Amino acid sequence: MTNISNLKTLLEGINFNQIGVSFKGSGSYVPDQILTNQKISQKVNTSNEWIKSRTGISERRISSLGDDVTEMGYKAALTAIEMANWDIKTIDLIVLATSTPHDLFGSAPSIQAKLGAANAVAFDLTAACSGFLFALITTSQFLKGGSFKRAIVIGADQLSSFVDWNDRRSCILFGDGAGALAIEATNECDNLIGFDMRTDGERGSFLNLPSKNNKDSIIDNINFSSGAFSPIQMNGQEVYKFAVREVPIILEKLFKKMNYTSDEVDWLVLHQANQRILDSVGDRLKIPGEKILSNLEKYGNTSAATIPLVIDEAIRNNRIKQNDIIATSGFGAGLSWGAALIKWG
Ligand code: UT7
Repeated sequence: MTNISNLKTLLEGINFNQIGVSFKGSGSYVPDQILTNQKISQKVNTSNEWIKSRTGISERRISSLGDDVTEMGYKAALTAIEMANWDIKTIDLIVLATSTPHDLFGSAPSIQAKLGAANAVAFDLTAACSGFLFALITTSQFLKGGSFKRAIVIGADQLSSFVDWNDRRSCILFGDGAGALAIEATNECDNLIGFDMRTDGERGSFLNLPSKNNKDSIIDNINFSSGAFSPIQMNGQEVYKFAVREVPIILEKLFKKMNYTSDEVDWLVLHQANQRILDSVGDRLKIPGEKILSNLEKYGNTSAATIPLVIDEAIRNNRIKQNDIIATSGFGAGLSWGAALIKWG
């Protein structure tokens, strides 16, 4: 009797309809305007040689008026939906990772409207350059929990609006763009194999896009702080040290937790911040250069967009194939960082 009641309790704890996620499509978009290293050298005291050797970047894309996060995110989402071959009305959830929304109240609902995704709920999520990874993981929880079936996760940023174009230590790094993935709930597999997320606000001052805190008066002695932002402030060396230390640690821990080795990884997809960071993390994890996806030579650091942008490029170039194992990590302001192990498809 005791054994039967134990078994009953055990069975009640198991969810036989365990839902996983699968990846159905990818898309991306970058603005037309190209800002080369040579051009930046006409603006600040730098050179193509310096930028190329210290970062790997040759050029970046800059949004012009109208090509904002809503527009870029919409175009990236649309191409992901086309690849997934989904009827837009079947999309339940749209999550936009961005630090630079066109509207501070959120740009995701505008993307929803542009798409005509009338049955979806849409919201923004901000975690700087870790934003896409955090959004992917958040979305997957909704799908795995059974609340929604089809979702679009977008990473889009327009940091050119917030860069100090007179600060050669930071302006050389950033560019604008968007990427998106189409993700579906399924009970046949779980292709988000595992993940981890971290933040450390104690080190947040290394990279900020802070409010100006300009004091103004409404009337008499009632003051308010007007809503404007200072340009990006960055301690490049500290961010660099943080990335090359924490990214291998979080990925190694994830491999161990999910019982994977770095040999089993087909692609290492890191936030595209600096080629030296990509190489250093690859060395630490013993993942060879040919398995490390990189497109920062063309686009620089597009913040929340880098990961889906480089994934989409690799899918369309037939590099990432069905069932390939992708180890990915995002890192940046917050400080925030995270990792995920994914099977494509
Ligand atoms: O999403 C995360 C975003 N942020 C990052 O990923 C930033 C990570 N950090 C980096 O990528 C690198 O720290 C940078 C690329 C930003 C800088 O490279 P570095 O090798 O760390 O350079 P540094 O800051 O140590 O500067 C070395 C020298 C300095 O001159 P002195 O003091 O040695 O005479 C700088 O003033 O290079 C100078 N410098 C430049 N020279 C030419 C700094 N920026 C430039 C520049 N052109 N653009």
